[in-house]
Amino acid sequence: MTQPAIIPDRLMARIFMLGKVGALEGGGVCRLALSDEDWAGRDLVCNWMKELDLELMTDVIGNTWAIRKGIESGPPVMMGSHIDSVATGGLYDGALGVLAGLEVIEALNDAGIQTRRPVAIGFFTNEEGARFAPDMMGSGVAQGALDLDEMLAVTGIDGKTVGSELSRIGYAGAAPVKAITPHCFLEIHVEQGPVLETENTAIGAVTGVQGISWSEYVIEGTSNHAGTTPISMRNDAGLVAAQIACETRAIADEFGPPQVSTVGMLDVSPGLVNVVPERAVMTVDLRNTDDSLLKQAEMRLNQAAEEFAKAQGCSVTRRCLARFAPVEFDSALVDMIADEAAALGHSVKKMPSGAGHDAQMFAPSCPTAMIFVPSQGGLSHNIREYTAPAEILAGVDVLMRVVLNQAGVVPRTEQKP
Ligand code: GLV
Ligand code: MN
Ligand code: MN
Repeated sequence: MTQPAIIPDRLMARIFMLGKVGALEGGGVCRLALSDEDWAGRDLVCNWMKELDLELMTDVIGNTWAIRKGIESGPPVMMGSHIDSVATGGLYDGALGVLAGLEVIEALNDAGIQTRRPVAIGFFTNEEGARFAPDMMGSGVAQGALDLDEMLAVTGIDGKTVGSELSRIGYAGAAPVKAITPHCFLEIHVEQGPVLETENTAIGAVTGVQGISWSEYVIEGTSNHAGTTPISMRNDAGLVAAQIACETRAIADEFGPPQVSTVGMLDVSPGLVNVVPERAVMTVDLRNTDDSLLKQAEMRLNQAAEEFAKAQGCSVTRRCLARFAPVEFDSALVDMIADEAAALGHSVKKMPSGAGHDAQMFAPSCPTAMIFVPSQGGLSHNIREYTAPAEILAGVDVLMRVVLNQAGVVPRTEQKP
């Protein structure tokens, strides 16, 4: 068999070309889900898929995938990730998983390799959840974990709905929910954390994804004059928000790793120097690999929020934006990734993922695993996100070997013209 060869320059050229879509000054991208930039990114990737003679499909939530036929029909070995980004995204988060999959398929074409099973590459709608919550929306709907109609009705940070934006950009496809039933699912992704770099390790064989809980708290008080209103007579929504933010951090400090907690958005109104705030809206992101600890963290924060609000004569309401239980990946597939990495001479570490990924939505329905490559300085969701081409190549070589193993290579003597 001619060994399929990944061509790093071709892959990097595509990463940089996609990185020009929604490019930000100083580097990085803003391709919020279903925005004009996401639309242009999707069109670019679809054109590349078509150039490889793949069969394209788009489903009702805008997930798009392309299939390279095998000599047998049936569920494909599927690779995939996302091309939407946070507003301050890097070039690699998500894009790597999609474009590396495309490179694997092009390398199979170049080497004239036929596989027994089909091989597919997909991108999934709104993985980030930065414009429309929850995250992993497209893969969640595709796998039946999220309700299609509920998700189409979700209103984003700019007041537009998923359904209307999906139609506007022409990606409300015909394929139904659960149209994707892979033989297995593989996602290569940048680690987005400091572990691999710090430990000088080339490949992460990802064992699973920690649980994720996103909440929005809205605190209502009374706006009043900052100079004349005695401290004891205020209903200061801003103060309550600050107390909730400190409690959020205290939970992570007291629970210890792997509990993490983040207040990523805090909006106080009317937002004036001499006015006691009447309203605060804030988001809280809590994560833990242990679901019972995550539930404890959620309960403690909710209770504390009620107490802080009551003490200030304010009200507080909580809305769940996203809730995903921890997920374990398929141990045989994780082992295979670790073994293939070692066989290629790479150092490898089995590790959980701190970030959410489309792969976690596939894990309940088919064997699933992920490959991590290092992130320089552990930076991600930051325009300075960077992984060197040689580090990317190491991960994509592992991906290729696992794909070949799962799809099965047809010997020349058995090949069909
Ligand atoms: C997705 O990027 C997440 O928030 O983990
Ligand atoms: Mn990602
Ligand atoms: Mn991300």
